Amino acid sequence: MELQQAMSLRRSVRGYNGKKVEREKLEDIIKAALLVPSWKNSQTSRYYVVSGEETLSAVKATLFPYNKANTELAPVLIVGTVVPNVSGFNSDGTPSNEIGNGWGYFDCGLQTMNLLLKATELGLSTLVMGLRDASKLKSVLNIPVSESVVGVIAVGYSDISPEMPPRKSVCEIARFYEK
Ligand SMILES: Cc1cc2nc3c(=O)[nH]c(=O)nc-3n(C[C@H](O)[C@H](O)[C@H](O)COP(=O)(O)O)c2cc1C
Repeated sequence: MELQQAMSLRRSVRGYNGKKVEREKLEDIIKAALLVPSWKNSQTSRYYVVSGEETLSAVKATLFPYNKANTELAPVLIVGTVVPNVSGFNSDGTPSNEIGNGWGYFDCGLQTMNLLLKATELGLSTLVMGLRDASKLKSVLNIPVSESVVGVIAVGYSDISPEMPPRKSVCEIARFYEK
């Protein structure tokens, strides 16, 4: 699949058909995430890939009603975290600039985009969920206290065909300096 096609086809999908996702595809989307650039190549994002019935139900139970309903039949939920105070930080532990830990989340966002695009290429659909309960997720998955939970990504086969929500125009978001 061409990159442009993957970028255009990808949608936030709030309806899955329950079909299981092959383990190999899950590894492929994580491998795609690893291809992105990161601050000093620090690669501080971590992924908790949940497909087993028992753990999946426990993770779903932590979701807020809207997200829970929309991912009811999602066969996989991936909880993404960041190891803080590394990306964007100097070796003496001080932040390199005013963005601080924002750089770790920036890196995580880059990885997430590759993950979503690779999933699209593999015929999978996804939903990034920023509305989540970090402490419940940490407890269910035994995520180290040192990591910061970012989001939950549902992965599966779509049961719906959503339209692309409207986008701003180029001139609304970009300024070009040509002299
Ligand atoms: C950081 C982030 C957090 C989001 N959180 C949620 C969420 O909790 N629940 C949800 O249904 N959609 C969530 N979304 C999906 C957005 O609503 C969606 O990306 C946006 O409406 C554009 O639609 P599209 O992804 O189909 O292009 C989130 C997206 C991002 C990038």
